[in-house]
Amino acid sequence: MLYTDFEKTLESRLETRADLYPHASEYHRVRLEQTIHHLLNSILAQTDALMQQPDGSWTHTEEIVSDILYCGEMDVDQLFALEIPNELTADRDFEAIKTKLYETKYYPIGEHLNYISFPPALERKAFIEKHFSRFKEKSHFCDLGFGPGVLTAFILEQDTSWRVEGVDISRDCLHHAQRLLEKKKVLARSELSVADVRSLPYPDDTFDVVIAVEVLEHIPDPEAGLAEAMRVLKPGGYAMTALPVQLPMLMHLYDFDTPDEVLALYEKVGLQVIDFETKEFQRQAGPFMDTFALSVNP
Ligand SMILES: C[S@@+](CC[C@H](N)C(=O)[O-])C[C@H]1O[C@@H](n2cnc3c(N)ncnc32)[C@H](O)[C@@H]1O
Repeated sequence: MLYTDFEKTLESRLETRADLYPHASEYHRVRLEQTIHHLLNSILAQTDALMQQPDGSWTHTEEIVSDILYCGEMDVDQLFALEIPNELTADRDFEAIKTKLYETKYYPIGEHLNYISFPPALERKAFIEKHFSRFKEKSHFCDLGFGPGVLTAFILEQDTSWRVEGVDISRDCLHHAQRLLEKKKVLARSELSVADVRSLPYPDDTFDVVIAVEVLEHIPDPEAGLAEAMRVLKPGGYAMTALPVQLPMLMHLYDFDTPDEVLALYEKVGLQVIDFETKEFQRQAGPFMDTFALSVNP
């Protein structure tokens, strides 16, 4: 709605009561005008803060937004008009989450938007970047639960000899991620498909590096998923994993209580952890932690 239309609508609604209740009507008009004034000032203050952000931050946002619009084949108005899935119920049922959340046009876009400024998403990327130098030439990666494909593209852009295969349960994620890889001109070195992390379409000992970032908590039994990841990881290969702690959400079918519980899981499947970071983040419902690990299949 245009601001002039808004003003006219507001005025005409208040006028319907002005004859009978002139003072009450005037009282509400001034009260509402003050609220509007306050909101507009707050929007201007937010705009000033945005204008003060350094060029690097604008360049970063420009890239992510243009990638999202390309992957979603839409403009910014259509992006904001997208329906946000809200039909999830509290029963934490995998099939329901898959059809009502993962398999929607919104889902990969929402996950992709996190890479503008959501600190846990930026930390995932930073943790992976920190270890790039360990991976040899012609490394063969597997990205489990690749989502929007941001990390997949990031890996492929590092070294033109690297290849990435991967699975995600969502067709919408596959479509989005493949468009992103195509835009970044790295699609030819990838092979992504729709599959379940609990039953991977790869032979034993296939990959030099397996990435499972923020995906194992989306299945009821993370140990089964991690054991499957171990099966396809070569001996001596690396696993890069990220798991949240104390972050109950409808799509999280397993809740980790402590970082030690995460470490115990890695130990149980036989991974040797060589770097383990924990970071605390704030959200409205309270603080939560993310854990990031680099491990080796001994
Ligand atoms: C929080 S997103 C993480 C995306 C990506 N790894 C990242 O960090 O940007 C979780 C992803 O796991 C996928 N997923 C959930 N359950 C899965 C399963 N059983 N098998 C494969 N993928 C699954 C979802 O579709 C979603 O794309």
